[in-house]
Amino acid sequence: MSNVAGSPLDTFLAELERLRSDAATALASATDDDAVEAARIEFAGARSGRLKAVQKALGGIPAADKPAAGRSFNDTKAAVAALLESAQSRLGGGGGAESADTIDVTLPGDAIPLGHLHPITQTIRQVQEIMGQLGFESVDGPEVEDQWHNFEALAISPEHPARDPLDNFYLATARAADPLLLRSQTSTVQIRVMESREPPLRIVSLGRVYRPDTADATHYPMFHQVEGLLVEPGTTMAHLKSVLRLFASRFLGGDVHVRFRPSFFPFTEPSVEVDMEWGGRWVEMGGAGMVDPAVLAAVGYDPDAVTGFAFGLGVERIAARRYGVDDIRDFYKNDVRFLRQF
Ligand code: PHE
Repeated sequence: MSNVAGSPLDTFLAELERLRSDAATALASATDDDAVEAARIEFAGARSGRLKAVQKALGGIPAADKPAAGRSFNDTKAAVAALLESAQSRLGGGGGAESADTIDVTLPGDAIPLGHLHPITQTIRQVQEIMGQLGFESVDGPEVEDQWHNFEALAISPEHPARDPLDNFYLATARAADPLLLRSQTSTVQIRVMESREPPLRIVSLGRVYRPDTADATHYPMFHQVEGLLVEPGTTMAHLKSVLRLFASRFLGGDVHVRFRPSFFPFTEPSVEVDMEWGGRWVEMGGAGMVDPAVLAAVGYDPDAVTGFAFGLGVERIAARRYGVDDIRDFYKNDVRFLRQF
């Protein structure tokens, strides 16, 4: 036995050992099917694989050592095949029946997509929060209303165009004389609260209203309103403007200016349209005014003793302003690519 390079058998066995250990290393670090396939070609490839090269070297082994060399070669070949097979089944590719049931507990789990509140709901909660800080209690009212609460108590006479069947969603019921309808405004809640409570009152009500409008960038047959009502001795338009300005500044950020334009609503006197300045532009946000004495009388208050103001703003409008949305239909398409932005 040579002490320099070793016999041809020693060299042959050392090469087999190196091949086996290289294959084990390569397959242990393989993380996908491509890496396993690359290792298969390198070690077991039929034409230029390393096993093939070692097999050729078998020819140079002295005849006496050939049986031992051949046995070692076969062992190494089988070991490489086993390594390849176990790597394949570990990665799930080309595996046998076993691999299909194998659960790799070290893989990361599937992320559960988390949702969040709809931008309109977020807006409603923010409005309630801001108005709450100004002392306004949040109240609710029904979406199916009668003639009294949607019109009559609000001094909207039977001939008023707002009562036109084509402008409302009347419900087909047996109550022909007093048909129910989906409320067309949240001013109904003013009446319901005043009927059941005595002043002083500070309430805010946010909810859905319905009008048979054709949907376009600024209209939708269902939308939301914020209704505010304050009834306290000595209330004036100045209080109304201050509350709206405080609200708008908190909601939109910065010092937002509020402008009143003369208008008409049957249930307020005087009545105004409310504009807010935002980004250098005046934008109409809704209507407001001092509660009409006829309304105070309709709910049983003494119009000579109490005064109050009311306002109604469009929730979609203020949300669209704030978030820079230019088509309110986007709020109702439920396209997560849109909703995810809020
Ligand atoms: N209810 C009115 C509308 O829907 C808005 C409004 C509310 C006006 C309260 C004055 C006072 O247009």
